[in-house]
Amino acid sequence: LAFATRSKSVATMAASQEFTGNLKREVEKLFDASLRITVPDGTSVETEVAASLPGKPGDYQCNNAMGLWSIIKGKGTQFRGPPAVGQAISKNLPASEMVETCSVAGPGFVNLVLSSKWMSKSIEKMLIDGIDTWAPTLPVKRAVVDFSSPNIAKEMHVGHLRSTIIGDTLARMLEYSKVEVFRRNHVGDWGTQFGMLIEYLFEKFPDTESVTETAIGDLQTFYKKSKTKFDEDPDFKEKAQKAVVRLQGGDPIYRKAWAKICEISRTEFAKVYQRLKVELEEKGESFYNPYIANVIGELDSKGLIEESEGARVIFLEGFNIPLMVVKSDGGFNYASTDLTALWYRLNEEKAEWIVYVTDVGQQQHFNMFFKVGRNCGYPVTMNQAARKAGWLPDSDKTYPRVDHVGFGLVLGDDGKRFRTRSSDVVRLVDLLDEAKTRSKTALIERGKDKEWTPEELDQTAEAVGYGAVKYADLKNNRLTNYTFNFDQMLSDKGNTAVYLLYAHARICSIIRKSGKDIDKLKKTEKLALDHPEERALGLHLLRFAETVEEACSNLLPNVLCHYLYDLSERYTSFYSIHQVIGSPEEASRLLLCEATAVVMRKCFHLLGITPVYKI
Ligand code: ARG
Repeated sequence: LAFATRSKSVATMAASQEFTGNLKREVEKLFDASLRITVPDGTSVETEVAASLPGKPGDYQCNNAMGLWSIIKGKGTQFRGPPAVGQAISKNLPASEMVETCSVAGPGFVNLVLSSKWMSKSIEKMLIDGIDTWAPTLPVKRAVVDFSSPNIAKEMHVGHLRSTIIGDTLARMLEYSKVEVFRRNHVGDWGTQFGMLIEYLFEKFPDTESVTETAIGDLQTFYKKSKTKFDEDPDFKEKAQKAVVRLQGGDPIYRKAWAKICEISRTEFAKVYQRLKVELEEKGESFYNPYIANVIGELDSKGLIEESEGARVIFLEGFNIPLMVVKSDGGFNYASTDLTALWYRLNEEKAEWIVYVTDVGQQQHFNMFFKVGRNCGYPVTMNQAARKAGWLPDSDKTYPRVDHVGFGLVLGDDGKRFRTRSSDVVRLVDLLDEAKTRSKTALIERGKDKEWTPEELDQTAEAVGYGAVKYADLKNNRLTNYTFNFDQMLSDKGNTAVYLLYAHARICSIIRKSGKDIDKLKKTEKLALDHPEERALGLHLLRFAETVEEACSNLLPNVLCHYLYDLSERYTSFYSIHQVIGSPEEASRLLLCEATAVVMRKCFHLLGITPVYKI
């Protein structure tokens, strides 16, 4: 194979690149350019760049030499082995102010050391232009995040709390990445249970107009009582079944009663959302009801639907049960609604990425209806060509795209499903109240009630308490079960929100104590990364954008938590060795403190945690 002679213009082009925030991508661009020169024509390789592990030479590593060698060896190449390929990759790297040195180690690892001067300049620029200039760019403009989504009149349980916390973070990361996000609360507000609820309501409150939340008291108990009656009283059961028909037929009295029940639940849910500062837009199951018949009709006309034991179903490759889309009584179900919502979101709302946040227990449901959207139904009776819904591309990584973001269970200290002492239902509001009370107690123990105003105490207790609950959930890989433990999550040591919030507050207090006007410093002073701890901290700061992008693309909030914890560790390593106030490097180090605080705050923001500024 002959080597192509390429013009040097590739190199000059890359030399003046503007830092877009994603450091890894910038490094990739450089190696891309080098590989275009190094790799023989007609050979396609994907650039492999990774951040180097701590303690290794270099900041980023290009790992293409070995793979490339195995493709070209024995084919008349001038190279003698992978190290020589590595040397060529290194030599062909375009000149760039980003790069300090590039060298080859071992069997051909190409190690790139970033220029500390360039690093400093990039951080200085972020301090002036704001951290939004580091926002990732994603290949989508509009997304739906379907999260929280409790069921009307049923308990909003810890599973819904997890969905609310994880979904909110994902929505925040997407929003930061300039994606328009529809934060959807797909509440379960439609279904046969409303027949019995409405009849029970009529029975207990003949004057339905005046029913209020307080009159009903606890909607869950109300639900349980009506269910008992439904199971035990055949007359009531019949009435309830008729009520469903009247409700679905649009009878105004039944509609009104239904709306009342929904409203009471909504008020309950709102209390949790308000505490957590989570915004959601409700478009419940009932919203899609008017569209279902058409959507099922479309699938039917495409030959996807078959009769099976009186019901109408779609058989899917790889699943041993079919997806039921019309029940034997002619009614629609969870799956018909979700198929319709998918159709609506893709076609009416033009969403390019739809993300569903529920417990892993629902994974099969999602996989099945995603597959219907992805063309893979196979009716026995129809030919191949007809079996396409055609809503989604065949590949699950191509846009428009759907993803199920599953999560594990919340466990109690006994290792079993989380419950409270008194009842089998954990009231979310009580849980959040307890987190706040406990963090307030801890603050009072530290004497903060004497230092601060009651408002300050209350706000800090809230930020720390709710932040702790959120962070304890988000820091684990979402697929694993996690143990709910107040003592652990509210500890000020280890990887907890409390520790991180305090770390941030400490940085703020150093800046305050310096008595310097930080905005003025940003404009007049330089930031230097001369010492190893300063440089390590600076490098970590510059990795913020690539981390958010990774967390967002892979829908893994724990990646961002991990980053945040590392950041505070690097800061501690820096601060425990280097004096800030009163040192000759004071101005530069204050800027480094400020940059750390800015990035930490952005992390908190993306995790839905309110930062605190003093402790
Ligand atoms: N209401 C459901 C539940 O509580 C969750 C809905 C999730 N969203 C969806 N489009 N299916 O389990």
